[in-house]
Amino acid sequence: MSKETVMIIGSCGQVGTELTESLRTLYGTSNVVACDIRKPEADFWSEGPFEQMDVLDVKKIAELLKKYKPTQIYHLAALLSATAEKNPKLGWSLNMDGLFYVFDAALEFGVKRVFWPSSIAVFGPNTPKQNTPQYCVMDPNTVYGITKQTGERYCEYYHKRYGLDVRSIRYPGLIGYKAEAGGGTTDYAVEIFHEALKNGKYECFLGENTFLPMLYMPDAVKATLEITHAESNLIKNRSSYNISGFSFTPALLAEKIKKHVSNFEITYKPDHRQAIADSWPQSIDDAEARSDWGWKNDFDLDAMVADMIKNLAPRYKTGEM
Ligand code: SER
Repeated sequence: MSKETVMIIGSCGQVGTELTESLRTLYGTSNVVACDIRKPEADFWSEGPFEQMDVLDVKKIAELLKKYKPTQIYHLAALLSATAEKNPKLGWSLNMDGLFYVFDAALEFGVKRVFWPSSIAVFGPNTPKQNTPQYCVMDPNTVYGITKQTGERYCEYYHKRYGLDVRSIRYPGLIGYKAEAGGGTTDYAVEIFHEALKNGKYECFLGENTFLPMLYMPDAVKATLEITHAESNLIKNRSSYNISGFSFTPALLAEKIKKHVSNFEITYKPDHRQAIADSWPQSIDDAEARSDWGWKNDFDLDAMVADMIKNLAPRYKTGEM
């Protein structure tokens, strides 16, 4: 196998943290270059190459591509739905200019493959809510959703026009125990576990019946690595693939958590994120990903809840968290 060097931009976020770990296992720690605007303290990051980088610093991107000559880039840096609504101009520029800088640098420095995640936020109020198809009305009404939809169009454009091997999936809400969620509307589904184990109660910022599509992080990492390692001819969609795990409401999740934390209580105080959640699909049809490159999730709702508790509970008990 020819030597691969992988660069992860936005490495310290919810997805980046887990992807860095998996890519280090696949390619060797020294061949995975983690880049993030924040300089993290944890030892994990100093075990391999780490560069502090702002994705809006186009000169720095070129400098690092020259230095490391990555063969693959995972470009994950973005402002998520809730954070981008607080700063719409920055949301657009970080999510779009950052994407152009990375794509153009990838072309200039001969990067073999680029992964960029899209999101269920590309859908909007007029999208069919149940089993949302791959192709349908898309009228995103958040800055995050608008940038993800535009980004998808540019993925396809850079592939067709310049031959860039870019691959993408639309992540649903992601749940994991290794890193914090990063400013999205679906973050409640991570916070709820920590609060349940720490305090036995959680005030949810979405209403009890808000049904949203979600995916457990091991499946999100699996999907990401499968699409990036599939033979190129299997990737028929060069914008972004729907992928799906399971869907639930805060009330249903609370009920499942109660089976493990019997005194757990949930209350509801919907905030501005409710309108964002209401504009998104409730479940996703991912038939194309399944047939094109063999995607299949391993975790259902019960398995995810059990695994989250299994991994987090001991850390609260020993006082590590
Ligand atoms: N988890 C993201 C968000 O809530 C959706 O892709 O913004």
